[in-house]
Amino acid sequence: MKVTIVGAGAVGASCAEYVAIKNFASEVVLLDIKEGYAEGKAMDLMQTATLNGFDTKISGSTNDYSKTANSDIAVITSGIPRKPGMTREELIGINAGIVKEVSANLIKHSPDVTLIVVSNPMDTMTYLVHKTTGLPKNKIIGMGGALDSARFKYRLSEALECPPSDVDGMVIGGHSDTGMVPLTRLATRNSVPVSAFLDTDRLDQVSEDTKVGGATLTKLLGTSAWYAPGAAVSGLVQAIACDQKKMFPCSALLEGEFGLNDLCIGVPVILGKNGIEKIVEIELNDAERNKMKESAEGVKKTNGLLDV
Ligand code: LAC
Repeated sequence: MKVTIVGAGAVGASCAEYVAIKNFASEVVLLDIKEGYAEGKAMDLMQTATLNGFDTKISGSTNDYSKTANSDIAVITSGIPRKPGMTREELIGINAGIVKEVSANLIKHSPDVTLIVVSNPMDTMTYLVHKTTGLPKNKIIGMGGALDSARFKYRLSEALECPPSDVDGMVIGGHSDTGMVPLTRLATRNSVPVSAFLDTDRLDQVSEDTKVGGATLTKLLGTSAWYAPGAAVSGLVQAIACDQKKMFPCSALLEGEFGLNDLCIGVPVILGKNGIEKIVEIELNDAERNKMKESAEGVKKTNGLLDV
């Protein structure tokens, strides 16, 4: 199992680290345009192999896509991250050109690859890859919901004063400060609805904190976060690599599901060796359906800025 990660910045390197530590991939190739950077990160990570007990071979390359040949899965993290005060949507001008070029280069050397898009604005970048590559739709996956759901569970655990592992929950919709739809109605603590423990105001606060989860970290860190994004991507990579049939909210091309068409947006999907093996159309109530519709309108507005 060969995994390529394009962009050896904080998210890409953290993803490589988590993939390696989970020890399911034979090979990880890190690629970056900055001379020597991916090679350096790969070497540093390889020097943790005996410490962390993994056998995955990590190598780095300065923009030589021949090194990525025959990758099973490739993760695109390239592009600029947001700075404090910026929205993900503001990155579109620079990142669209980068994502288009990177995906074309990857497919040239690995025609059967499954692509995971992380670059922001993620839902629009995932749509761009659909529009420009000709890869089948099951092989193009946007990573946002897995991360947003992890942040949601963290915020719920804070409110519930319990460990995050006690909590289950999911965020669907666009991966943006206004587009996320945290499904508080369906969130549970060990199968008990969280509404049994928290009142509506507290749950609304949890939702709001979740939606600005990335922005909160960007403000604290001066750039966007990397540990949780890297870990979330590695979970998707593992589900595909190990044919786990696990359910995650991911940005998928919709063709009528949830009453939506011609966009990529976060919905629950089953991930296995064929990438997105199924879109799970859960029943939403009216309020959730309306939020999803509004979120889709926001994503489509950003898609409208693309030159495709
Ligand atoms: C975040 C970036 C990865 O939410 O979109 O941290």
